[in-house]
Amino acid sequence: MTVGEKVIKLTVRDIKVGGKRVLVRVDFNVPLDEETGAIMDDSRIRAALPTIEYLIGGGARVILCSHLGRPKGRVVEGLRLAVVARRLAKILGQPVETARDCIGPEAATAVAGLKEGGVLLLENVRFHPEEEKNDAAFAQALAKLADIYVNDAFGTAHRAHASVVGIARYLPAVSGLLLEQEMINLGRILEDPPRPLAALLGGAKVSDKVSMIENIMDKVDYILVGGGMAATFLKAKSYCIGQSLIEADRVATAAELVARASRSGVALLLPLDVVVAGELTPEAEGEVVSIESIPEDKRIVDIGPETIKSFQGSLMKCKAVFWNGPMGIYELPQFAEGTKALARFMATLEATTVIGGGSTADAVADMGLAGHMTFVSTGGGASLDFLSGKVLPGIEVLPDKES
Ligand code: 3PG
Repeated sequence: MTVGEKVIKLTVRDIKVGGKRVLVRVDFNVPLDEETGAIMDDSRIRAALPTIEYLIGGGARVILCSHLGRPKGRVVEGLRLAVVARRLAKILGQPVETARDCIGPEAATAVAGLKEGGVLLLENVRFHPEEEKNDAAFAQALAKLADIYVNDAFGTAHRAHASVVGIARYLPAVSGLLLEQEMINLGRILEDPPRPLAALLGGAKVSDKVSMIENIMDKVDYILVGGGMAATFLKAKSYCIGQSLIEADRVATAAELVARASRSGVALLLPLDVVVAGELTPEAEGEVVSIESIPEDKRIVDIGPETIKSFQGSLMKCKAVFWNGPMGIYELPQFAEGTKALARFMATLEATTVIGGGSTADAVADMGLAGHMTFVSTGGGASLDFLSGKVLPGIEVLPDKES
């Protein structure tokens, strides 16, 4: 079944789960404090709750599996999922069992001990090199633990890995409720979005965003460019950008995007003023300058107050806004004002506000504003790929509603 261009996938609601062993691929790849190993942001755990609670309520035996970090096929003690199991147990208010492996006898014993409505979190699937190779035997070993497979890991849906793609060949497979929400909310940007629609884009690199910008060009009314990538656009318009890092091989691409926007009647706005600094240290001080007078020895670190005002003026006219990428060097508080000001402003808009995952979602969560946005995606790379019109392997492998 399709709505517009969008394919509707079967979900957990379409199948019987009572008494069944249901293996749910979640994305519990949460940021950990480097020193203490504590979870710094549990948004991804909370985002998986609707599916987990639905399955518990339906009397399923819930087997969760995820990756955490990039252990490169080895056991890395600091990347065990026990810390996540403890947080999930606290949020759910019920025990979450753990297993020291995700396949084999230990995992099988843990699954056998699960009661209806019980929850088990398997060990980090990336401790096995076969996971990232989409190895068939590994996928089968995972599948052996369960009767049904659910993919709720939108953040990992762009990876053709065994627990995301391979496993779906060996079990009846459906989408989880988070994955469904991601498809609906991001899908709305691509199909018949409320207009006017603005894309507020930042982050370091133009190259990360080119395919996405090209794919949404015909759907948006405004493209507002801030962040490190603005320097490449300013260079394309022959401004002096001082020591700002640019992608020299993308200057022509930026110029083409500007020309294409103008041909398509899209207002592509660049900064009018910027904050510049000589160095990127916690003590570094910024200075606001017009884009016409960026000093030779300084680099752009944030958008300036005139730009904030100008972007807000455009956003105010919109019925929908999609935001991906911070406006400056958000990690340094003195260069985070552009990002913060626009986040606060978006939180006040009555428009549909959709936040791309990754650092944009982190910034919005840090500021406690996630609840004020229409939707905050849990996918960084995945949301960019989705909006670029790419087929995500973890979604493609799931059956459509009518098939
Ligand atoms: C993410 O954080 O974007 C996802 O969990 C995917 O992680 P990866 O980039 O290590 O595959």
